[in-house]
Amino acid sequence: MSADMSAETSAENAPGNGPGTSPEPESVVDAAAAAAVAPTSAVAAEARDDLAQVEPVVGAPKPDAILVADDVVRRFGGMTAVDVTHLEVQRGAITALIGPNGAGKTTFFNLLTGFDTPQSGTWSFEGRSLHGKSGARVAQQGMVRTFQLTKALSRLTVLQNMLLAAPKNPGERFWLSWLPFTWKAHEKAATDKAMELLARFKLDDKAGDFAGSLSGGQRKLLEMARALMTDPTMIMLDEPMAGVNPALVQSLLGHVQALRDEGMTVLFVEHDMHAVRHISDWVVVMAEGRIVAEGPPRAVMQDQAVVDAYLGAHHDTDLGDDSLLDPEILARLEAEEEKR
Ligand SMILES: Nc1ncnc2c1ncn2[C@@H]1O[C@H](COP(=O)(O)OP(=O)(O)O)[C@@H](O)[C@H]1O
Ligand SMILES: [Mg+2]
Repeated sequence: MSADMSAETSAENAPGNGPGTSPEPESVVDAAAAAAVAPTSAVAAEARDDLAQVEPVVGAPKPDAILVADDVVRRFGGMTAVDVTHLEVQRGAITALIGPNGAGKTTFFNLLTGFDTPQSGTWSFEGRSLHGKSGARVAQQGMVRTFQLTKALSRLTVLQNMLLAAPKNPGERFWLSWLPFTWKAHEKAATDKAMELLARFKLDDKAGDFAGSLSGGQRKLLEMARALMTDPTMIMLDEPMAGVNPALVQSLLGHVQALRDEGMTVLFVEHDMHAVRHISDWVVVMAEGRIVAEGPPRAVMQDQAVVDAYLGAHHDTDLGDDSLLDPEILARLEAEEEKR
Protein backbone atom coordinates (compact mmCIF):
# COMPACT_ATOMS: atom_id res chain seq x y z
CA MET A 1 0.00 0.00 0.00
CA SER A 2 1.45 3.33 -1.01
CA ALA A 3 0.88 6.94 -0.15
CA ASP A 4 -2.56 6.69 -1.83
CA MET A 5 -4.08 5.64 1.43
CA SER A 6 -2.99 8.78 3.20
CA ALA A 7 -3.78 11.07 0.31
CA GLU A 8 -6.91 12.40 1.94
CA THR A 9 -5.07 13.27 5.13
CA SER A 10 -5.82 16.34 7.07
CA ALA A 11 -4.49 19.60 5.83
CA GLU A 12 -7.03 20.54 3.20
CA ASN A 13 -10.06 19.93 5.40
CA ALA A 14 -8.48 21.38 8.49
CA PRO A 15 -9.90 24.64 9.69
CA GLY A 16 -7.52 27.16 11.22
CA ASN A 17 -4.46 25.62 9.72
CA GLY A 18 -1.67 28.05 8.93
CA PRO A 19 -0.26 28.42 5.44
CA GLY A 20 2.97 26.74 6.53
CA THR A 21 1.23 23.39 6.89
CA SER A 22 2.34 20.76 4.46
CA PRO A 23 -0.06 18.02 3.46
CA GLU A 24 2.64 15.35 3.61
CA PRO A 25 3.05 13.88 7.05
CA GLU A 26 5.20 11.14 5.48
CA SER A 27 8.42 13.04 5.95
CA VAL A 28 7.96 13.18 9.70
CA VAL A 29 7.23 9.60 10.51
CA ASP A 30 9.02 7.95 7.61
CA ALA A 31 12.21 7.13 9.42
CA ALA A 32 10.41 5.67 12.37
CA ALA A 33 7.74 3.95 10.30
CA ALA A 34 10.11 1.18 9.30
CA ALA A 35 9.74 -0.39 12.72
CA ALA A 36 6.72 0.01 14.92
CA VAL A 37 7.55 1.36 18.33
CA ALA A 38 7.65 -1.23 21.06
CA PRO A 39 5.49 -0.74 24.12
CA THR A 40 7.38 0.41 27.19
CA SER A 41 5.19 -1.14 29.87
CA ALA A 42 4.59 -4.75 30.84
CA VAL A 43 0.83 -4.52 30.40
CA ALA A 44 1.15 -3.12 26.88
CA ALA A 45 3.81 -5.66 25.94
CA GLU A 46 1.52 -8.43 27.15
CA ALA A 47 -1.33 -7.10 25.03
CA ARG A 48 0.92 -7.13 22.00
CA ASP A 49 2.14 -10.67 22.74
CA ASP A 50 -1.48 -11.76 23.08
CA LEU A 51 -2.33 -10.25 19.72
CA ALA A 52 0.59 -12.02 18.06
CA GLN A 53 -1.31 -15.27 18.70
CA VAL A 54 -4.55 -14.04 17.13
CA GLU A 55 -5.47 -15.19 13.66
CA PRO A 56 -5.86 -12.16 11.36
CA VAL A 57 -9.43 -12.82 10.24
CA VAL A 58 -12.53 -10.65 10.51
CA GLY A 59 -14.26 -11.16 13.86
CA ALA A 60 -11.29 -12.97 15.41
CA PRO A 61 -11.69 -13.59 19.15
CA LYS A 62 -9.10 -11.80 21.30
CA PRO A 63 -7.47 -13.33 24.39
CA ASP A 64 -8.50 -10.39 26.59
CA ALA A 65 -11.28 -8.43 24.88
CA ILE A 66 -12.39 -5.27 26.65
CA LEU A 67 -15.02 -4.40 24.02
CA VAL A 68 -17.17 -6.87 22.13
CA ALA A 69 -19.73 -5.84 19.50
CA ASP A 70 -22.27 -8.06 17.74
CA ASP A 71 -24.54 -7.39 14.78
CA VAL A 72 -24.49 -3.63 15.14
CA VAL A 73 -26.52 -2.07 12.34
CA ARG A 74 -27.15 1.63 11.75
CA ARG A 75 -29.13 2.83 8.76
CA PHE A 76 -29.81 6.38 7.64
CA GLY A 77 -32.86 6.21 5.44
CA GLY A 78 -32.14 3.48 2.93
CA MET A 79 -28.38 3.65 3.43
CA THR A 80 -26.61 1.25 5.77
CA ALA A 81 -23.82 3.23 7.43
CA VAL A 82 -22.72 0.49 9.86
CA ASP A 83 -23.17 -3.26 9.70
CA VAL A 84 -20.64 -4.88 12.03
CA THR A 85 -21.17 -8.59 12.59
CA HIS A 86 -18.55 -9.21 15.26
CA LEU A 87 -15.66 -7.23 16.63
CA GLU A 88 -13.47 -7.73 19.68
CA VAL A 89 -11.00 -5.12 20.87
CA GLN A 90 -8.00 -6.28 22.87
CA ARG A 91 -7.45 -4.67 26.27
CA GLY A 92 -4.30 -2.60 26.73
CA ALA A 93 -3.55 -2.36 23.02
CA ILE A 94 -3.74 0.38 20.39
CA THR A 95 -6.22 -0.65 17.74
CA ALA A 96 -6.51 1.46 14.60
CA LEU A 97 -9.80 1.65 12.73
CA ILE A 98 -9.12 2.59 9.13
CA GLY A 99 -11.16 2.84 5.96
CA PRO A 100 -12.11 5.33 3.29
CA ASN A 101 -14.27 8.38 3.98
CA GLY A 102 -17.88 7.41 4.46
CA ALA A 103 -16.96 3.87 5.59
CA GLY A 104 -18.91 4.32 8.83
CA LYS A 105 -16.04 4.71 11.28
CA THR A 106 -17.34 7.80 13.04
CA THR A 107 -20.87 6.44 13.13
CA PHE A 108 -19.55 3.23 14.69
CA PHE A 109 -17.69 5.28 17.32
CA ASN A 110 -20.87 7.23 18.05
CA LEU A 111 -22.87 4.04 18.48
CA LEU A 112 -20.35 2.38 20.77
CA THR A 113 -20.05 5.46 22.98
CA GLY A 114 -23.77 6.13 23.32
CA PHE A 115 -24.05 9.18 21.05
CA ASP A 116 -26.18 7.44 18.46
CA THR A 117 -28.59 4.52 18.54
CA PRO A 118 -28.40 1.58 16.16
CA GLN A 119 -31.39 -0.16 14.60
CA SER A 120 -30.08 -3.38 16.10
CA GLY A 121 -27.07 -4.87 17.80
CA THR A 122 -25.47 -5.54 21.16
CA TRP A 123 -22.12 -4.59 22.57
CA SER A 124 -20.44 -4.84 25.91
CA PHE A 125 -17.57 -3.12 27.60
CA GLU A 126 -15.71 -4.90 30.41
CA GLY A 127 -18.38 -7.57 30.21
CA ARG A 128 -21.27 -5.16 30.81
CA SER A 129 -23.82 -4.36 28.14
CA LEU A 130 -23.76 -0.76 26.98
CA HIS A 131 -26.80 -1.01 24.76
CA GLY A 132 -29.13 1.93 25.33
CA LYS A 133 -26.72 3.76 27.68
CA SER A 134 -26.21 7.48 27.13
CA GLY A 135 -22.81 8.98 26.30
CA ALA A 136 -22.51 10.21 29.89
CA ARG A 137 -23.21 6.74 31.28
CA VAL A 138 -20.77 5.13 28.88
CA ALA A 139 -18.10 7.62 29.97
CA GLN A 140 -18.86 6.83 33.61
CA GLN A 141 -18.18 3.19 32.85
CA GLY A 142 -14.77 4.11 31.50
CA MET A 143 -15.09 4.45 27.73
CA VAL A 144 -14.72 7.96 26.31
CA ARG A 145 -14.44 9.40 22.85
CA THR A 146 -12.75 12.65 21.96
CA PHE A 147 -14.73 15.52 20.53
CA GLN A 148 -13.55 17.86 17.88
CA LEU A 149 -13.11 21.37 19.12
CA THR A 150 -16.22 22.68 17.40
CA LYS A 151 -17.25 26.26 16.75
CA ALA A 152 -19.27 26.33 19.96
CA LEU A 153 -16.42 25.01 22.10
CA SER A 154 -13.90 27.35 20.45
CA ARG A 155 -15.61 30.25 22.20
CA LEU A 156 -14.82 28.83 25.63
CA THR A 157 -11.43 29.04 27.25
CA VAL A 158 -9.13 26.04 27.30
CA LEU A 159 -9.83 25.52 31.01
CA GLN A 160 -13.61 25.82 30.54
CA ASN A 161 -13.39 23.13 27.88
CA MET A 162 -11.66 20.87 30.38
CA LEU A 163 -14.21 21.52 33.12
CA LEU A 164 -17.06 20.80 30.75
CA ALA A 165 -15.74 17.25 30.58
CA ALA A 166 -15.44 16.83 34.35
CA PRO A 167 -17.79 14.31 35.95
CA LYS A 168 -21.05 15.97 37.00
CA ASN A 169 -20.53 18.67 39.56
CA PRO A 170 -22.49 17.84 42.71
CA GLY A 171 -23.40 21.56 42.87
CA GLU A 172 -25.65 20.94 39.90
CA ARG A 173 -27.67 18.50 41.98
CA PHE A 174 -30.17 20.43 43.92
CA TRP A 175 -30.04 18.56 47.21
CA LEU A 176 -26.26 18.95 47.37
CA SER A 177 -26.36 22.59 46.38
CA TRP A 178 -27.39 23.32 49.96
CA LEU A 179 -23.84 22.53 50.93
CA PRO A 180 -21.65 25.09 49.18
CA PHE A 181 -18.44 23.55 50.52
CA THR A 182 -19.29 20.32 48.71
CA TRP A 183 -19.34 21.87 45.30
CA LYS A 184 -16.51 24.25 46.06
CA ALA A 185 -14.30 21.30 46.97
CA HIS A 186 -15.47 19.46 43.88
CA GLU A 187 -14.82 22.47 41.69
CA LYS A 188 -11.34 22.90 43.09
CA ALA A 189 -10.53 19.23 42.58
CA ALA A 190 -11.77 19.40 38.99
CA THR A 191 -9.75 22.55 38.30
CA ASP A 192 -6.61 21.02 39.82
CA LYS A 193 -7.03 17.94 37.72
CA ALA A 194 -7.67 19.98 34.58
CA MET A 195 -4.52 22.01 35.17
CA GLU A 196 -2.47 18.88 35.76
CA LEU A 197 -3.67 17.39 32.48
CA LEU A 198 -3.09 20.65 30.64
CA ALA A 199 0.47 20.65 31.97
CA ARG A 200 0.99 17.12 30.71
CA PHE A 201 0.02 18.30 27.22
CA LYS A 202 1.95 21.58 27.58
CA LEU A 203 -1.21 23.63 27.41
CA ASP A 204 -1.18 24.99 30.94
CA ASP A 205 -0.02 28.46 29.82
CA LYS A 206 -3.03 28.56 27.54
CA ALA A 207 -5.63 27.76 30.21
CA GLY A 208 -7.18 31.23 30.01
CA ASP A 209 -7.03 31.58 26.21
CA PHE A 210 -9.99 30.96 23.98
CA ALA A 211 -9.79 27.42 22.69
CA GLY A 212 -10.41 28.83 19.21
CA SER A 213 -7.00 30.52 19.30
CA LEU A 214 -5.09 27.21 19.53
CA SER A 215 -3.18 25.76 16.61
CA GLY A 216 -4.39 22.59 14.90
CA GLY A 217 -2.03 20.41 16.94
CA GLN A 218 -2.86 22.10 20.23
CA ARG A 219 -6.56 21.54 19.55
CA LYS A 220 -5.93 17.85 19.19
CA LEU A 221 -3.98 17.83 22.45
CA LEU A 222 -6.84 19.65 24.17
CA GLU A 223 -9.32 17.11 22.81
CA MET A 224 -7.19 14.33 24.26
CA ALA A 225 -6.72 16.11 27.59
CA ARG A 226 -10.46 16.73 27.84
CA ALA A 227 -11.20 13.05 27.36
CA LEU A 228 -8.86 12.17 30.21
CA MET A 229 -10.85 14.23 32.72
CA THR A 230 -13.02 11.20 33.49
CA ASP A 231 -10.10 8.77 34.02
CA PRO A 232 -11.14 6.43 31.23
CA THR A 233 -10.12 2.81 30.82
CA MET A 234 -10.57 3.06 27.09
CA ILE A 235 -10.20 6.10 24.88
CA MET A 236 -11.55 6.47 21.36
CA LEU A 237 -9.80 9.04 19.17
CA ASP A 238 -11.42 10.10 15.92
CA GLU A 239 -8.67 11.30 13.58
CA PRO A 240 -6.32 12.63 16.25
CA MET A 241 -3.78 13.68 13.62
CA ALA A 242 -6.13 15.47 11.22
CA GLY A 243 -5.13 19.06 10.58
CA VAL A 244 -1.99 18.79 12.64
CA ASN A 245 1.20 20.41 11.48
CA PRO A 246 3.64 17.61 10.52
CA ALA A 247 6.12 18.89 13.09
CA LEU A 248 3.66 17.98 15.83
CA VAL A 249 2.58 14.60 14.51
CA GLN A 250 5.39 12.75 16.22
CA SER A 251 4.58 14.32 19.56
CA LEU A 252 0.90 13.45 19.23
CA LEU A 253 1.78 9.86 18.39
CA GLY A 254 3.98 9.81 21.47
CA HIS A 255 1.05 10.93 23.61
CA VAL A 256 -1.18 8.20 22.19
CA GLN A 257 1.46 5.57 22.91
CA ALA A 258 1.93 6.93 26.41
CA LEU A 259 -1.77 6.35 27.10
CA ARG A 260 -1.42 2.74 26.01
CA ASP A 261 1.75 2.30 28.01
CA GLU A 262 -0.07 3.55 31.09
CA GLY A 263 -2.53 0.71 30.65
CA MET A 264 -5.31 2.40 28.71
CA THR A 265 -6.95 0.74 25.74
CA VAL A 266 -6.90 2.96 22.65
CA LEU A 267 -9.12 2.71 19.58
CA PHE A 268 -8.36 5.36 16.99
CA VAL A 269 -9.48 6.32 13.52
CA GLU A 270 -6.72 7.66 11.32
CA HIS A 271 -6.11 8.27 7.64
CA ASP A 272 -2.37 8.63 7.87
CA MET A 273 -1.11 5.13 7.19
CA HIS A 274 2.39 5.88 8.39
CA ALA A 275 1.01 6.87 11.76
CA VAL A 276 -1.15 3.74 11.85
CA ARG A 277 1.76 1.46 11.05
CA HIS A 278 3.96 3.26 13.52
CA ILE A 279 1.87 3.03 16.67
CA SER A 280 -0.89 0.47 16.33
CA ASP A 281 -0.79 -3.07 17.63
CA TRP A 282 -3.79 -4.15 15.59
CA VAL A 283 -5.67 -2.72 12.61
CA VAL A 284 -9.35 -3.08 11.76
CA VAL A 285 -10.52 -2.05 8.29
CA MET A 286 -14.03 -0.81 7.53
CA ALA A 287 -15.57 -0.26 4.12
CA GLU A 288 -19.21 0.51 3.38
CA GLY A 289 -20.16 -0.13 6.98
CA ARG A 290 -18.59 -3.56 7.29
CA ILE A 291 -15.36 -4.79 8.69
CA VAL A 292 -13.46 -6.19 5.74
CA ALA A 293 -10.14 -7.10 7.34
CA GLU A 294 -8.27 -7.07 10.63
CA GLY A 295 -4.81 -8.05 11.73
CA PRO A 296 -1.34 -6.74 12.56
CA PRO A 297 -0.59 -3.44 10.73
CA ARG A 298 1.93 -4.75 8.24
CA ALA A 299 -0.13 -7.73 7.11
CA VAL A 300 -3.40 -5.81 6.91
CA MET A 301 -2.02 -3.11 4.69
CA GLN A 302 -1.04 -5.67 2.08
CA ASP A 303 -4.43 -7.37 2.20
CA GLN A 304 -6.31 -7.32 -1.12
CA ALA A 305 -9.63 -6.50 0.58
CA VAL A 306 -8.00 -3.41 2.07
CA VAL A 307 -6.56 -2.25 -1.22
CA ASP A 308 -9.97 -2.74 -2.85
CA ALA A 309 -11.70 -0.83 -0.06
CA TYR A 310 -9.49 2.17 -0.68
CA LEU A 311 -9.71 1.97 -4.43
CA GLY A 312 -13.49 2.11 -4.15
CA ALA A 313 -13.25 5.08 -1.76
CA HIS A 314 -15.60 7.99 -2.10
CA HIS A 315 -15.43 11.34 -0.40
CA ASP A 316 -17.95 12.64 2.01
CA THR A 317 -18.46 15.65 4.17
CA ASP A 318 -17.72 15.53 7.84
CA LEU A 319 -20.81 16.40 9.82
CA GLY A 320 -18.77 17.72 12.78
CA ASP A 321 -19.41 17.02 16.41
CA ASP A 322 -21.75 19.83 17.41
CA SER A 323 -24.70 17.54 16.99
CA LEU A 324 -23.21 15.20 19.60
CA LEU A 325 -22.93 17.75 22.34
CA ASP A 326 -25.23 17.40 25.29
CA PRO A 327 -28.29 19.51 24.30
CA GLU A 328 -28.15 21.22 27.70
CA ILE A 329 -24.56 22.27 27.14
CA LEU A 330 -25.25 23.40 23.61
CA ALA A 331 -28.22 25.48 24.79
CA ARG A 332 -26.05 27.05 27.48
CA LEU A 333 -23.34 27.90 24.97
CA GLU A 334 -25.88 29.42 22.60
CA ALA A 335 -27.42 31.49 25.40
CA GLU A 336 -23.97 32.78 26.36
CA GLU A 337 -23.25 33.61 22.76
CA GLU A 338 -26.46 35.68 22.55
CA LYS A 339 -25.50 37.67 25.62
CA ARG A 340 -22.34 38.89 23.88
N1 LIG B 1 -26.53 11.83 10.89
C1 LIG B 1 -26.45 11.30 9.66
N2 LIG B 1 -27.49 11.35 8.81
C2 LIG B 1 -27.41 10.81 7.57
N3 LIG B 1 -26.34 10.16 7.10
C3 LIG B 1 -25.27 10.06 7.90
C4 LIG B 1 -25.25 10.63 9.22
N4 LIG B 1 -24.06 10.36 9.79
C5 LIG B 1 -23.34 9.68 8.87
N5 LIG B 1 -24.07 9.50 7.73
C6 LIG B 1 -23.63 8.76 6.54
O1 LIG B 1 -23.15 7.50 6.95
C7 LIG B 1 -22.00 7.12 6.21
C8 LIG B 1 -20.86 6.86 7.14
O2 LIG B 1 -20.39 8.10 7.64
P1 LIG B 1 -19.24 8.22 8.71
O3 LIG B 1 -19.52 7.31 9.84
O4 LIG B 1 -19.09 9.67 9.01
O5 LIG B 1 -17.98 7.70 7.89
P2 LIG B 1 -16.42 7.83 8.20
O6 LIG B 1 -16.24 8.36 9.57
O7 LIG B 1 -15.87 6.47 8.00
O8 LIG B 1 -15.89 8.78 7.16
C9 LIG B 1 -21.75 8.25 5.23
O9 LIG B 1 -22.33 7.91 4.00
C10 LIG B 1 -22.45 9.43 5.85
O10 LIG B 1 -22.87 10.35 4.87
MG1 LIG C 1 -15.26 10.07 10.28
